[in-house]
Amino acid sequence: GEMMEPLVQMLAWVSAEGRLPKQNPRAFALSVVSIEMEFLKKVFIPDASTLRVINLNMYEQTNKMAHRTNMYDYSNLIVRRGQEFTLGIVFNRLFNPQFDIVNIEFLIGEPLLSDLYLKYETDSLNSVSSKWKGRVLRNQAAETKMGITPAADCIVGLFSTYVTVITSLGKVRTERNPKTDIYILFNAWNPSDMVFMANEDDRTEYVLNSVGIIFNGTVSDKSSRPWNFGQFQQGVLDACLFILDFGKMPLEYRGDVVKVTRKASAMINSQDDNGVLVGNWSNDFSLGTAPTAWTGSAEILLSYVSKGGVPIKYAQCWVYAGVFNTFLRCLGLPSRLITNYFSAHDSLGSIETDIVLDEDGQIDMNYTTDSIWNYHCWNEVFTKRPDIPPVFSGWQAVDATPQETSEGYYRCGPVSVAAVKEGELRYEYDASFVFAEVNSDVVFHKRDKYGNTEVVSVNTTYVGQLILTKMVGSNEPEDITHTYKYPEGSAEDKRSMRQAERQGMRRYHSNSSSLLNVDMQMQMEAKQINTAGDISLTIIVSNLSNQVRTVNITLTCKTDYYTGATNQQFKLITQDMTKQQVFTVTANEYMEFITGQPFLSFIACGLISETGMSLTSMAVVHLNAPPLLIDLKGPSQVGMDMYVTVKFTNTAGYDLRDVTIRLEGSDLMLLKTKQYSNIRQGSTVKWTESFTPQMPGSKMLMACLDCAALRNVCGQVDIVIQSKDYED
Ligand SMILES: *[C@@H]1O[C@H](CO)[C@@H](O)[C@H](O)[C@H]1NC(C)=O
Ligand SMILES: *[C@@H]1O[C@H](CO)[C@@H](O)[C@H](O)[C@H]1NC(C)=O
Repeated sequence: GEMMEPLVQMLAWVSAEGRLPKQNPRAFALSVVSIEMEFLKKVFIPDASTLRVINLNMYEQTNKMAHRTNMYDYSNLIVRRGQEFTLGIVFNRLFNPQFDIVNIEFLIGEPLLSDLYLKYETDSLNSVSSKWKGRVLRNQAAETKMGITPAADCIVGLFSTYVTVITSLGKVRTERNPKTDIYILFNAWNPSDMVFMANEDDRTEYVLNSVGIIFNGTVSDKSSRPWNFGQFQQGVLDACLFILDFGKMPLEYRGDVVKVTRKASAMINSQDDNGVLVGNWSNDFSLGTAPTAWTGSAEILLSYVSKGGVPIKYAQCWVYAGVFNTFLRCLGLPSRLITNYFSAHDSLGSIETDIVLDEDGQIDMNYTTDSIWNYHCWNEVFTKRPDIPPVFSGWQAVDATPQETSEGYYRCGPVSVAAVKEGELRYEYDASFVFAEVNSDVVFHKRDKYGNTEVVSVNTTYVGQLILTKMVGSNEPEDITHTYKYPEGSAEDKRSMRQAERQGMRRYHSNSSSLLNVDMQMQMEAKQINTAGDISLTIIVSNLSNQVRTVNITLTCKTDYYTGATNQQFKLITQDMTKQQVFTVTANEYMEFITGQPFLSFIACGLISETGMSLTSMAVVHLNAPPLLIDLKGPSQVGMDMYVTVKFTNTAGYDLRDVTIRLEGSDLMLLKTKQYSNIRQGSTVKWTESFTPQMPGSKMLMACLDCAALRNVCGQVDIVIQSKDYED
């Protein structure tokens, strides 16, 4: 006779509705689902002893190593979809594939005994892609070892595992056991998964790296801060699933990268849906934590969940992007955090950022509604896009910072970065908004006292000057500007702009004679010249005419928020000049207006006396904050005590009150905070903590100091932990 193949039935049910938030999102209220087993065609042979399941072995250690999920601080099994894992079933006697029938079931959601269940089966004919696979690896009296492969496009989340034995007497299902629950994640290692990434170094960075560097400052004076994504920290994975539950995302969509990332871009901000983070761009964060004070995402996500979904205060763009990146990597999606310098925020859906100057050449805030953020951070997720042409697969921009609504909600993306580059704006989602962020023209208007406005100059290169992300395997910046746009002024750039305009982007086209006939040029350069914070400003006007020209300069000096919004105008200079002029702005002039991140911005408007025409120029300076130093002592070895010292000297020139320092390290130590009621001018504080590394590999410790008078003071240190030495 013929050897009978073991019959392995794999069933996974999901309810069509999302799980409603429960106090404990991991608690499934399992009502027994009765399902007609139409595939039971076998003849039961009575057996002396009825088959019973004694135990399930999840092989957490070996499975997690094979699935690269061993870094998650979870005891439960975590696997990546489309990849086999081992499951051991201990029966009361040897499993006989000729007449024993066993179903292995993976359930997600709360079974509701309704028709809304989706059922995944190995034998399902119509949906090949949704197939789960199962095979018997080894059948012994002690244990039947199974290999289970979740479908490469299956739902991502927490499944409970059951084994049902079917006999002539009926069927017996194992009891619910939370220890056999399995988390299933997206799989960047699997070529059949939408998020497959071919290169191992890329996957290691974009899925497995739990720390990052966020670039800020300005193009000419870049700075950065560390961020602890902490996606492997205990509770963070549950927090990410809680976000989807709390956002009532239907389970059936949770295998779809586009839907999951779009949902998360809405849920990471609190607008519309009580999502994770409340934005605040004021300067008063007294009712929460200042955006500049956070060192990582775990603190935010865990307190959001522990409060049952009460939004956390406060965030600005890098906080939204940091938490979003944690969400993406935690679920197994390859992702990165990017910074766009001079990011336009256009409120009208055009690629024109309007700056209105009054008669004297000062910015007229009443009429200037668009803004240019000194920098803006968002995320990219790497995936195939089955919903748009294949050439637009790859990196997709997603943004959780609430700037403008998209189809009624504060969310943005995913939008193909390659499509933005080509000016192809017709593909979902929010391509126009992202296109404008990196491509807007800055159009200066002059408004006279009667309300007549006239365009006086256009700057096509200011916005989106530089786009950076952390390099793979290094803390250095990688310039990815070329992935969003062709070189400024190139033929491809012009083609892409025309394409965008054809698809509805409005762009300013100069027809004003005053623009064409400008026969002079103006340039401005600003830089910090000493540690005290004095600034030198060089303005150069060049005369392209053959006549004498005199320019009357109005120079507006202001302190800014990083969003480009004016905090305080502190100086106005007006002067006649002919060629080149150096102006000095001393620290004393602006110090009292500096709050938060110290951006100074300068706008020069020149009126050419002989022709009445105008010239404009802008420059931004980001002042360097005093450093926060981190020192390490100890053997850098698993299981051995180490000491970290955070050191800060107050060189700000004034006392710092109500100071908080946060300190944490990926896989090294959980967040610790320390308060200082006053750090006197000129004094030094030192704070030492001990920790014991538990995992080998390269790690990072990071700290941020924050108080109302001094923000964005951070430091980090890299460290390689050696594995434990074996004793002879
Ligand atoms: C920002 O926070 C302050 C206090 O911390 C609060 O008074 C203010 O209303 C907040 N602004 C916004 C826009 O929520
Ligand atoms: C502009 O150029 C003309 C011709 O070279 C010259 O006579 C005039 O002085 C120049 N003006 C300035 C401001 O340099």
